[in-house]
Amino acid sequence: MKTKIQEEFKRRFGDEARLFASPGRVNLIGEHTDYNLGFVLPGAIDKAIYVAIKPNNDKVCRIYSIDYDTQVEIDLAGPLPKAQWVRYIYGVAHEMMKRGATVPAFDCVFGGDVPLGAGLSSSAALESAVGFALNEIYGLGFDRKTLAQIGQMTEHNYVGVRCGIMDQFASLFGQKGHVIRLDCRSLDYAMVPFDPTGYRLVLLDSMVKHSLASSEYNIRRTQCETGVAVVSRHIPAVVSLRDMTQDMLDTYKDEMEEVVYRRCNYVINENERLLDGCTALAQGDYALFGKKMFATHDGLSHDYEVSCAELDFIVDIARATDGVLGARMMGGGFGGCVISLVRDTIHDSYVNEVQEKFTQKFGKTPRSIDVVIGDGAHEIK
Ligand code: GLA
Repeated sequence: MKTKIQEEFKRRFGDEARLFASPGRVNLIGEHTDYNLGFVLPGAIDKAIYVAIKPNNDKVCRIYSIDYDTQVEIDLAGPLPKAQWVRYIYGVAHEMMKRGATVPAFDCVFGGDVPLGAGLSSSAALESAVGFALNEIYGLGFDRKTLAQIGQMTEHNYVGVRCGIMDQFASLFGQKGHVIRLDCRSLDYAMVPFDPTGYRLVLLDSMVKHSLASSEYNIRRTQCETGVAVVSRHIPAVVSLRDMTQDMLDTYKDEMEEVVYRRCNYVINENERLLDGCTALAQGDYALFGKKMFATHDGLSHDYEVSCAELDFIVDIARATDGVLGARMMGGGFGGCVISLVRDTIHDSYVNEVQEKFTQKFGKTPRSIDVVIGDGAHEIK
């Protein structure tokens, strides 16, 4: 892929370019907690978006997407482009300009091996790759935290998804062999070694790309804010779900809709589960960690209601399989992947069983994606 992108750049723009990569991510536990200023535990993966890029001393940028096999010209001073994939790039440049940077025009070719729409944050990988690359070629001086915020705000302001910061943060800060315990309120983080000897992570793609994903995502966020507003009328120190205890939530339960209660209840429990999960990891207790993953899935499915029949089906098989320590839907939901922590020796039989049973029921076969925890954004020399 790297060579292909370099060659494509030469063919189209007749020059050598610098090459940058930023990866997709997995998240072990801590889902829908980031925008509630709680904790997450993601890691970067060995699959990335690659960007070949060079300043062009012109007024417009020329951008070619390998995946869409389309080249566009955009004027960074012009109106918002129509195509979503172009908006990611336009948005990143604009967020940089908002923060005082000058971003001259450039030529760029990008593509990658992060599966699109599978919940592995290919869009955050693109934002992070473009942000990191522009920062380097123009010496803009943004640190990685700011680049993550620039990616997040691109989603908010140019794509319309009010996402948290987890995906961009993981893409920029990832480190081989480690997951990141990130406090989404302070942005303090710790690198947690992740080396489950004898076990590995497997993703099973439900093959569902839910069109409601971004609108339902924003609704979940609003419901959480509604719960916070109710409690903060009584306890002003509560400004996010991070500040809310189970007791506080239960005390004011009658003042909120039942659905708002369930959303908040899930998030409060998920933050606790993550902290307990980290303790389990530190003690090498992967069995206990796996149980937490199953519990997260239950919360996401019943209380947060972001799962779907296909994801639930895979997790049910995981639960009944000896050697699968834990499994749950991963990411925003309404489709995408189930992440499982699986004993090496049963990996193949587990994947086969899921694929067979799933195909019988839904008439399509989930692809399995093996991931290894890799490094965050970097230049490829
Ligand atoms: C998507 C968002 C993240 C996060 C997850 C759910 O991936 O982009 O910010 O909210 O969903 O945990």
